[in-house]
Amino acid sequence: MTLQKADFDAIYDQPDPRAYFSTLEQLDYTIPQHGADVFAQLLRMHAADDNHRPKILDLCCSYGVVATLLKTDLDIGDIYAHYRDPATAPLSSEQLAAADQHLLLEHHRPGAPHVVGLDVARHAVDYAVATGALDAGIVENLELNDPSPQLIAQLSDVSLITTTGGVGYVTHRTFDRLLEVTSGSVWVAAFCLRTYDYQRIAETLRTHGLHTERATRTFPQRRFTGPQEQQWAVSQVRSRGVDPAGKEADGFYHAELYLSRPSAEVDARPLAQLLPELF
Ligand SMILES: C[S@@+](CC[C@H](N)C(=O)[O-])C[C@H]1O[C@@H](n2cnc3c(N)ncnc32)[C@H](O)[C@@H]1O
Repeated sequence: MTLQKADFDAIYDQPDPRAYFSTLEQLDYTIPQHGADVFAQLLRMHAADDNHRPKILDLCCSYGVVATLLKTDLDIGDIYAHYRDPATAPLSSEQLAAADQHLLLEHHRPGAPHVVGLDVARHAVDYAVATGALDAGIVENLELNDPSPQLIAQLSDVSLITTTGGVGYVTHRTFDRLLEVTSGSVWVAAFCLRTYDYQRIAETLRTHGLHTERATRTFPQRRFTGPQEQQWAVSQVRSRGVDPAGKEADGFYHAELYLSRPSAEVDARPLAQLLPELF
């Protein structure tokens, strides 16, 4: 028996997100909400400007869940309830996308950011663009290839790169390629499971002039699928010298928040001052 993280590839690229949300709701998957709450605060600090909407790149955006949370007054519980609603069951994927577009407009938050999504899952990205969750969606794999001219054009005025649930699928290679073509003032906010080491990504960001800090509080991501996945996660965190007590040992993956900013900005206002509630 091989111990490893559960494989959710089958739900990542469906014509609509029903399988994604129904599967993950059962595991109390909440990391997109934690992410959106922190990203919204960071946007207010970094990209506050009454004259233009702040622009973010959401890496591993999937069906646009973080974008939906950032752009509407819906929370993750509302999203789960929406896809669980028996009224949505008979809808085709096209009809569901139209219903979601309506829902997003109804719940639109004034001053919502402009969100560009990047993922390898074509159907998921197309769905998120159709509903309006994403203002633009790009399907590329920066683990393997340099960004296309289309992606480069989208990245030049991005203030914040975000990711939840992405690290592990993407590595320093993706971040390196993104930072080659973003402006020097971009911030990178990444939630990374404690089972993975963010060090190599932080070192890569350092070569682009960004200094990385980590919040001390952790964020529950989801419950384990079963004892084998838990065993894997507990041994992973232990092998990294991290204590699983009260977190993975209690049945949940936990993620950490890493924020990377230009060094002068970190010196002027460290993360513990920027977001003291995370310490
Ligand atoms: C766990 S999901 C996270 C989705 C979303 N951010 C969330 O918080 O719910 C991981 C996502 O990473 C995407 N992914 C996997 N490999 C990737 C790659 N090389 N580049 C971009 N996205 C990738 C998958 O298609 C999937 O949508």
